[in-house]
Amino acid sequence: MKKLFCSSLYIFLLASSSYISAEVAFVPDHSTILITGSNRGLGLEFSRQYAAAGWNVIATCRNPQTAEELQTLAGQYNQVVVEKMDVTSDRDVETLATKYKNQPIDVLLNNAGIYGTLEKQTLGTFDFEELKRVFDVNTIGSLRVSAAFLDNVAASEQKKIISLGGGMGTPTIGSMFGGHYFMKMSKAAHLSAMGTLQADVDDTGIIITMISPGRVDTQLMRDSGWTGKSISAEKSAGLVISLIARLEPEMKGRLVMYNGMIIPW
Ligand SMILES: NC(=O)c1ccc[n+]([C@@H]2O[C@H](COP(=O)([O-])OP(=O)(O)OC[C@H]3O[C@@H](n4cnc5c(N)ncnc54)[C@H](OP(=O)(O)O)[C@@H]3O)[C@@H](O)[C@H]2O)c1
Repeated sequence: MKKLFCSSLYIFLLASSSYISAEVAFVPDHSTILITGSNRGLGLEFSRQYAAAGWNVIATCRNPQTAEELQTLAGQYNQVVVEKMDVTSDRDVETLATKYKNQPIDVLLNNAGIYGTLEKQTLGTFDFEELKRVFDVNTIGSLRVSAAFLDNVAASEQKKIISLGGGMGTPTIGSMFGGHYFMKMSKAAHLSAMGTLQADVDDTGIIITMISPGRVDTQLMRDSGWTGKSISAEKSAGLVISLIARLEPEMKGRLVMYNGMIIPW
């Protein structure tokens, strides 16, 4: 790990809750990332790997009190802070955006996501309340977070907003097999939202890209019913991180495979 040189810039987190470490030292000349859904799966791996690379990490999750592995990580690295943020909550998102108002964020990583119950998104047994739940996290949540932290990203050096998605959200790949309606619809709508946001902020230099992490062995993949080949969260996160570091201008507003291939819409 890169040597942390203690700086005059410390963010003192008030010990207003039991889960937050009393003091977090962000290293001023190191890059900063905010990750949603950091307590498990890919989000936890992203937090681990960015922390090990010396980044300042704002690792957010719904329930910090029970996020044991994340708390352990924060105990190992001074520059990792665990914060509460349910992406479906206006209040949570606004509270955190206010707290970090003057903190540049180089990479905003919209990782939080749910698959939804398969049966409820299968023709014949649709439950449209489940559609609303899936959209609330995957589509509205990511847009809500991106909009709230836009100024932080614009004030940073790297200026990147990344969302995780997959080919299932495209009409071409999505229509190759039936079912899984709500997951497919939520990611398609999210890609549309991110493309629109890209157009809105183009003059700020912000790059918005959706990245497909592959089939990754996480709870979400098990919820999808997939039993074929998959890669580990560790490997996938490493590949996605390497792609984020070398994003090209033509990837703006596009869906890109972890190996850098742009997926046609
Ligand atoms: N795994 C794959 O094969 C695959 C493929 C393509 C895309 N992706 C995308 O990768 C991302 C990460 O998924 P994963 O595979 O790591 O799944 P995972 O292990 O199930 O993790 C999902 C994360 O999202 C969090 N989350 C759910 N609802 C939330 C909310 N309302 N607010 C904040 N956080 C919330 C979960 O927190 P709780 O513990 O609180 O529920 C958890 O930390 C998702 O966006 C997914 O669509 C995954």
